[in-house]
Amino acid sequence: MSLSKTEEPLEMGTKLIQGALTRKHVLDLDDFSKDEILEVLESSRSMKEVLGRDIKKVPALRGKVVVTLFYEASTRTRISFEEAGKVLSADVINMSASGSSTEKGESLLNTGLTIQAMGVDTIVIRHPHSGAPHLLAQQLDKVSVINAGDGLHAHPTQALLDLYTVQDKLGSLEGKKVVIVGDILHSRVARSDIWGFAKMGAEVVLSGPSTLIPPDLSPSANGSARSHFASFVKVETDLDKAIEEADVVMALRLQHERQQAGFLPSLREYIRRWQVTASRLERAKPGNMVMHPGPMNEGIEISNDVAHGGNSVIEDQVANGVAVRMALLYKLTVGSG
Ligand code: CP
Repeated sequence: MSLSKTEEPLEMGTKLIQGALTRKHVLDLDDFSKDEILEVLESSRSMKEVLGRDIKKVPALRGKVVVTLFYEASTRTRISFEEAGKVLSADVINMSASGSSTEKGESLLNTGLTIQAMGVDTIVIRHPHSGAPHLLAQQLDKVSVINAGDGLHAHPTQALLDLYTVQDKLGSLEGKKVVIVGDILHSRVARSDIWGFAKMGAEVVLSGPSTLIPPDLSPSANGSARSHFASFVKVETDLDKAIEEADVVMALRLQHERQQAGFLPSLREYIRRWQVTASRLERAKPGNMVMHPGPMNEGIEISNDVAHGGNSVIEDQVANGVAVRMALLYKLTVGSG
């Protein structure tokens, strides 16, 4: 999906942002190069400058149309894409499965073709089925597709905002120890974060109950059962050991239905062994960062004092999400126009 078109740089505050990424879609970070990630992070920095102005409005995407197509609940991702588009002067149209012709049985593909026929430039999609954004990207030739979370598969824009947040605080990602704690098995955020942090040279350590570590990442898997993905990460089920000298500790939401499904001995046991607490964080590096993609179950995967404490950058993640999504919308929409 390379773009041959060279875009004029557009002044966006103090820096010039080059127009196009050499891609039409953002589906996951597995096919991003390190340079491409750096380019997005650099552009996000310029977008952050725009967001810091009294009047947060630039004409960069005037005349462009963005549709957010959400088949699953969202607060952060949906609002931040809408804000990102509006700050860039795009016309943003929000569509949920509820209240749309999806309720009458219209297929995802026909919904996508319908939206494309209306001259939309970019579709941002969240869908419960892994691969739904890929289907649209394969079948629609005139729109860019951004994956806002698909099934258990990927959440690349969350990972990019996580990378931005760490780079912003720590200066660099190279060699940083990033511990991701909790339900890795069902987390699309974890999968995209693993790609992103590993590509940027960070050391990624996963911690949680062995039942919530994907079998292909488990240290006990070997040979063909151990995936290519596994070479990027270490697994340490003992959180007290995992957290030693960590630069970043990221807690993931524990989905309560996992307990009913038999993945956990009990909620009390989970809290005792895997909750991110202030006493556990004493083992991490001084100045460590605590992250959570949200929404949080405070008191379960993360204690209340840590969630809102001095090391927490959880609200920074949310704020940075707008800048990162501005950068992506701008680069893809201008590039594919
Ligand atoms: N992190 C995240 O995707 O949050 P939302 O579900 O609120 O969008």
